[in-house]
Amino acid sequence: MKQQNLAIFASGNGTNAEEIFKYFKDHHSISVKGLLTNNPKAQVLNRAARYDVPGFTFNREDFRSKHHILEVLHQWNINTIILAGFLWLIPEYLIHRFQDRILNIHPALLPKFGGKGMYGKHVHQAVLDSGQEESGITIHLVNDQYDRGRIIFQERCPIDSQDTLDTLAEKIHKLEHVHYPRVIEQWLSME
Ligand code: GAR
Repeated sequence: MKQQNLAIFASGNGTNAEEIFKYFKDHHSISVKGLLTNNPKAQVLNRAARYDVPGFTFNREDFRSKHHILEVLHQWNINTIILAGFLWLIPEYLIHRFQDRILNIHPALLPKFGGKGMYGKHVHQAVLDSGQEESGITIHLVNDQYDRGRIIFQERCPIDSQDTLDTLAEKIHKLEHVHYPRVIEQWLSME
């Protein structure tokens, strides 16, 4: 299998990012080269440091002016981008440069409960409010619209009448942690 160098983009806590750091720590052909975040206070930066993954923080302007980000990705020799709780829309220049090489995880069964503003607990609240009997996770390729790229994996979980925002969030996080690293590995191994 060809060597794959990953960059993780995350905005917050970073439990998914941490599972990815852990899973690929001693992997023979997949390596996490860096963590990029728009949030200098994000807990994910501490998680990255614990796994010796270098962190890079950027602001809106850096993100828009493509040279900044592309330069960092070039320095780390990145060929695949993994979004793990990253909340900004991916700009056109990144989509163009990493065509079909950006993966995202979404905490519901797309195409339902996706789109702008639908992240984290907002998603779980919308799922609960609409009386669904199940939810789940979706791993998909990223294009220029929020949550509309090609779906490569979904897993479901039942919702019961006792579920609250917190219990549903916990169920979904568990599913994400089990599947996201494994699906990334499988997807990359098909090349
Ligand atoms: C995850 O549940 C992920 O699916 C979600 O943010 C959470 C981040 O948790 N992403 C989105 O909602 C994207 N629309 P984490 O920081 O603990 O990994």
